[in-house]
Amino acid sequence: MEKLIQQIEEKYKALGQNPETYLKGLLHSKPLNYWDYVQVDALLNLQTPRTDFADEMIFIIYHQVTELMLKLIKHEISQIVFVDEIDTKIFAEKVDRASRYTEILTSSFGVMSRGMNYEDYNKFRLSLAPASGFQSVQFREIELYTTNIINLVKTEFKEKATTIENSFNYLYWLDAGLDRRTGKKSLTLLQFEEKYLAHLIETANSCKTINMNTKFTTIKTDDVNYETLKNALRKFDYLFNVKWPLTHLETAESYLIEAGVKRAATGMSDWQKYLHPSYQRRIFFPEIWSEEELKNWGNFAL
Ligand code: HEM
Repeated sequence: MEKLIQQIEEKYKALGQNPETYLKGLLHSKPLNYWDYVQVDALLNLQTPRTDFADEMIFIIYHQVTELMLKLIKHEISQIVFVDEIDTKIFAEKVDRASRYTEILTSSFGVMSRGMNYEDYNKFRLSLAPASGFQSVQFREIELYTTNIINLVKTEFKEKATTIENSFNYLYWLDAGLDRRTGKKSLTLLQFEEKYLAHLIETANSCKTINMNTKFTTIKTDDVNYETLKNALRKFDYLFNVKWPLTHLETAESYLIEAGVKRAATGMSDWQKYLHPSYQRRIFFPEIWSEEELKNWGNFAL
């Protein structure tokens, strides 16, 4: 106890503070409780359905759960990207964590695909237009933290994408809302760009030389953790860019197709085509996949 008090004294003296003030403060402060620490009240007040359909609550909460998981993924990836040096063992561990969160997102998707009343969903979703999960900025931030922007550009436009700013005219995700023939953008896309485009360009610029892919390419193949890390990256690439998208697409199909007829999505994309990983070809680490695997992207299981 004496040693502890001495350390506390030293700590506050080093800050130019009177240690006694802080010790007295401890005497009066109330013990912390769970609900304040975790902010339960704030969290449970973040759900605002727009209709009286009971299942809309499930829809909102599961999107929020996903956003929290995406935040966890970003949290891990940030600790790889925004540090000066990263040990390869820690690099692989952080990627594994990101994979585990992505697995949770995939395995829990039944909450959506089987957990809502079909007719009710198809009524309440109409009051959400033109909002769409497509407008999740964390999803796009993860892409930019993870790979070089050129890997997010559609194959046929790679030569035109000469700068970061200009690459944003050719990204794969524009296909969800841009008619390339007329140049017309959907309201969902316009709203998203208005709110986040500047931020995303800034993010892409700041991650240009430090994103996960770039960092991986600097690691020597004879590093003792090279193979482990490579396999961890392959797994994450597969889970985030094939497994989750396929599960998400199956869910969309289970609600938006009736008797073989496709309904329009709230974001108005040609969604069945767009959402398939073999069409998007979003691949964070193309260098670590074989030619055969790249050719069959979206059509094989890892
Ligand atoms: C019943 C459940 C769902 C349906 C029917 C559905 C449908 C769709 C559709 C049709 C799109 C294409 C864009 C559009 O036209 O709107 C889309 C995109 C997207 N949705 Fe969902 N979605 C569902 C659940 C979710 C959930 C729970 C999330 C979690 C945040 C989510 C995140 C996304 C993302 C990130 C995109 C963009 C994907 C990409 O660009 O690769 N969706 N969704």
